[in-house]
Parts: sequence; C-alpha cells; structure tokens
Amino acid sequence: MTEEKKYDLVVIGGGPGGYTAAVRASQLGMTVACVEKHSRLGGVCLNVGCIPSKALLDSSELYATVSRRLAVHGIHAEGISLDLPAMMTRKHQVVADLTGQVRKLLEASRVEIVTGVAELADAHHVRVSGEDGSSRSLNAGFILLATGSVPTPMPGVEFDGRRIVDSTGALQFTEIPSKLGLIGGGFIGLELGSVWQRLGSEVTVIEMLPQIASGLDGQISRSLKRSLDKQGMMFRLKTRVHHVETSGDGVNVTVASGAAEETLIFDKILVAVGRKPQTRGIGLEAVGVELDTTGHVRINAGFQTNVTSIYAAGDIVAGPMLAHKASAEGIAAVENMAGISSEVHYDTLPSVIYTSPEVASAGLTEEQVKQRNIPCRIGTFPFTGNGRARCMGETEGLVKIIAHAKTDRIIGVHIIGHGASEMIAEGVMAIEMGASSEDIARTVHSHPTFSEALMEAAASIQKQASKRS
Ligand code: FAD
Ligand code: NAI
Repeated sequence: MTEEKKYDLVVIGGGPGGYTAAVRASQLGMTVACVEKHSRLGGVCLNVGCIPSKALLDSSELYATVSRRLAVHGIHAEGISLDLPAMMTRKHQVVADLTGQVRKLLEASRVEIVTGVAELADAHHVRVSGEDGSSRSLNAGFILLATGSVPTPMPGVEFDGRRIVDSTGALQFTEIPSKLGLIGGGFIGLELGSVWQRLGSEVTVIEMLPQIASGLDGQISRSLKRSLDKQGMMFRLKTRVHHVETSGDGVNVTVASGAAEETLIFDKILVAVGRKPQTRGIGLEAVGVELDTTGHVRINAGFQTNVTSIYAAGDIVAGPMLAHKASAEGIAAVENMAGISSEVHYDTLPSVIYTSPEVASAGLTEEQVKQRNIPCRIGTFPFTGNGRARCMGETEGLVKIIAHAKTDRIIGVHIIGHGASEMIAEGVMAIEMGASSEDIARTVHSHPTFSEALMEAAASIQKQASKRS
C-alpha cells in the first residue's frame, strides 16, 4: 500500500452528486480528492444516462421531423436515409466532450482525481484499489458517499447485453430492432422507446400499473399516452411479465393481464423497472453506516449519515433519482460540512420526461392536492390556443397550474408540450419565490411564445377567483 495522503474531504463517486460537491468544497477552501472507478468522470448522467439519451433523443427527433413532419410546411425532402453508426459516433463525441470538460473543471478547481474502486476502511479512511492491483489509503476529515445507482434487476430475467438489455444496452444498439419490447413504462422506457420508435422500431411498452409514468399528474400522464399512441407506440397497461425466454434470435415474453396470459415475441427487450442505490462493496457495514427501510443510505437534514464524518448525496440517498437533485444535494452536503447551513427544496424539484411532446413538472399534482385535502384552484391552457404553437405546428399538450384556493400561492405546475423542459423553469421559480397565480397572470410574457400558455393558465385561475368573489 502506498503512503497515506491527507485531505479535508474525500468524495467517492465522480457523478453529478460527487464532482459538483468536490468543486464546491474546493471553493470553500477544502483540500479534496474525488475517487472514481471509471476512467471517465461524470457518472451515469454523462456516460450512460442523461447526456447520451438526450443526444439520441435529439438526433432521432430530427430524423422524425425531416421524414414525417416537413411536408405540412411545404418542404419536400427526398432520399432521406439514416446512418446509425454516424448517429452513435456523434453521441460518443458529445459524451467525450462533456466528460473531458468535467475533468478539466476538477483539475482547474485543484481537486485530486483518483482512479480506482473506493471502499470505506473506517470513519476517516478510504481504501482505493487500482485496476493494476495497486492499493492506497486516503485520510479524510470528511467523506462524501456519492456512488449513485444501478438498474433494478427483474427476478428470473438475465441481462445478456444483446437481446435482453438495460438502459446502457439500449443506448448502443448497432442496428434498429424491428420489434422492441419495453418492460416498464417509466422515464427510461418512454425516452428510449421514443428513440427507437422514431428510428423505425415497432415498440410495445409493458407496464404493470394502469398508467404510464405513474408519478405524473394523472391528466398529464393520460395526455402523454394519447400522444405516444398517435405516434404508434403500443401499450400493455395493468400487465405483468410472467416469463422471459430467449429463443433463436428473439425473446418470448409471457405476460398476463387479469386471467388472460399471452406470449409476445420481440427482437430485443429493454428492462427498465427502476434503479436501486449502489450501496454494495463500499464498506458501509464495516463502518456501521445505516441504511433506511428502502435500502438507501440514511441521512439527516444536513446530509450526514449516522457516522458523523460521513455524508451522502445523490441516487444513493432517498428521493427522485435525478442529476440536478444529486448535484444540489452534493453542494448542500459540503456546505454543511463547512458549517454553512444548507438545504435542498424538494417541493420545487423539477422533473422532465424528454419525449415528444416533453413533459415537465414541479410541485404537487392534482391527485396529491386532493389526497392532502388542500383547497385549490386549477387553471389549464391548451397549446392549440397558443399563436407560436400554431406557427410551429406543435399544438399538442397543455399547461396546468395549481394554486392554493385561499392564498393563491402556486403549488404545482405541469406542462406537456414542445419546449416544456425549458418552460418549467418559470414554474419552479414561481413556486420557489412563493408567487401567486395572479403574479404569473400579470407578468407580461413575450408574444408569440409558448410561455404565454403559462400566463393564460394562471389567468384562468384568476377568472375563477373573480367569479366566486
Ligand atoms: P452517478 O451518476 O451514478 O455517479 C456515481 C459514480 O460513482 C459513478 O461514476 C460510479 O462509477 C462511481 N462509483 C460507484 N461506486 C464506486 C466506488 N466504490 N469507487 C469509486 N467510484 C464508484 N436524470 C436527470 O436529471 N435528467 C435526465 O435526463 C436523466 N436521464 C437519465 C437517463 C438514463 C438512461 C439513466 C439511467 C438515468 C438518467 N437520469 C437522469 C438519472 C441520473 O443519471 C442520476 O440521477 C444521476 O446520475 C445521479 O448522480 P449520482 O452522482 O448520484 O450518481
Ligand atoms: P421508473 O421508476 O421511472 O419506471 C419504472 C416503471 O416500471 C414504473 O412505471 C413501474 O410501475 C414499472 N414496473 C416496475 N416493475 C414492473 C414489472 N415487473 N413489470 C412491468 N412494469 C414494471 O424507472 P426507470 O424508467 O427504470 O428509470 C429509473 C430512474 O432513472 C427514474 O426513476 C428517474 O429517476 C431516472 N431517469 C430520469 C430521466 C429524466 O429525468 N428525464 C430519464 C431516465 C431515467
């Protein structure tokens, strides 16, 4: 073992939770090492998550637009062809550029990047094993656990990387599957299903619940399903998978809905039934770091585990598994280590599904508001009534704003439509600043823009309020 080096902070994991925390800690004057087992930094998000999936979503959306949606604008494109290897090369390049930028950022921030598998030795020591069999010990004032998450396996279904794949496999198919089955109609299934459906696959989503993306506001989820139905995606809701078997070049999936059992045949299946925190093999048991009932590392409001020198952030702790949540938590964790009281506002955390149309939400859904008996007023505005949406031929979807009936304070914003991922920032800011629906209704929005739909949805709450008063 090589000689021990001492740091104020050792971060385990170079994903959005870890690398962002390392940079912030350095800004706060700490000496920092960030240990990452892969040669590339950026974690799941940059390497096999947010970024490559969005690169393929953007490329496939362009292909769908050019192939199917230009004629209505009077543009006729002939001889359109698809070069899948070139599309994949572009995706690799986007990932390589961004992961390279993260490395430069850490170097510029004087964070020592340590490549190897890290394991807690005790409350102040991290053991790092290199690929070459080397081992070193890092002495740490504080340790931040940010090891992320891994796909949840399905009992009895083995990933073979070829016909039965997880999201990483579905980001690197070398040919377009003619029939693609998706087990799980959540974030990954709907986004990666959209990629391959736009490129020509026949896509079937098998979802055990009665609705897709079940965390969404019900009205928005139904609207998304209608849009994806129109695009040709097929859905088997309330359907359970009983058996999966590879046969020849295909995969037979036996499903049951009620009493009826049926076997569906696909070229490939993507299993996307959720992700679980990566808590194994990092020495938690040896050091006595406790998990909660869901298997995540248990933390207090300051991101500290039951071992006072050890903190945790990102997918390894409870809450939505989102990159911006991981980085917000990583920053808050190191600020707390430095004695700055810092928190993350989970009520305003936005989430986006990058389908077409996009879906973006922040705050409470209509169902949650009803469940909690919160008196509310709901305003909606469809993009069919929006000038810019008409000009662009992107009239699918709506904006839905939920405001408290007594205070008018905005408690939920839900958007399905073109550009929802960008528009949601206005909703997040409104909730964060305690804005009322009257604030949004009276804020002048540029014309013609999609964001006018937010103003109109808010104005419709104002009309309801004035009728009743
Ligand atoms: P990770 O990004 O998982 O990083 C953890 C890092 O720790 C990894 O690099 C891992 O190699 C390293 N590590 C683990 N164990 C060790 C060890 N013992 N020693 C050293 N290093 C170790 N979120 C969004 O907000 N928007 C999106 O659009 C989005 N798209 C996604 C698409 C897909 C296909 C997937 C799978 C996820 C997506 N996510 C998205 C979720 C997002 O990727 C995660 O929430 C985010 O990466 C979590 O960050 P993290 O830092 O907690 O963990
Ligand atoms: P998910 O939790 O979003 O969806 C999983 C779906 O699978 C659920 O609808 C669930 O009901 C269904 N399911 C579970 N078991 C099943 C079974 N046996 N048979 C049929 N259906 C079953 O999980 P997913 O899609 O795997 O994504 C993991 C996480 O990654 C997401 O929760 C999200 O946090 C993150 N992510 C975020 C993205 C974004 O922000 N745009 C994109 C992709 C992933």
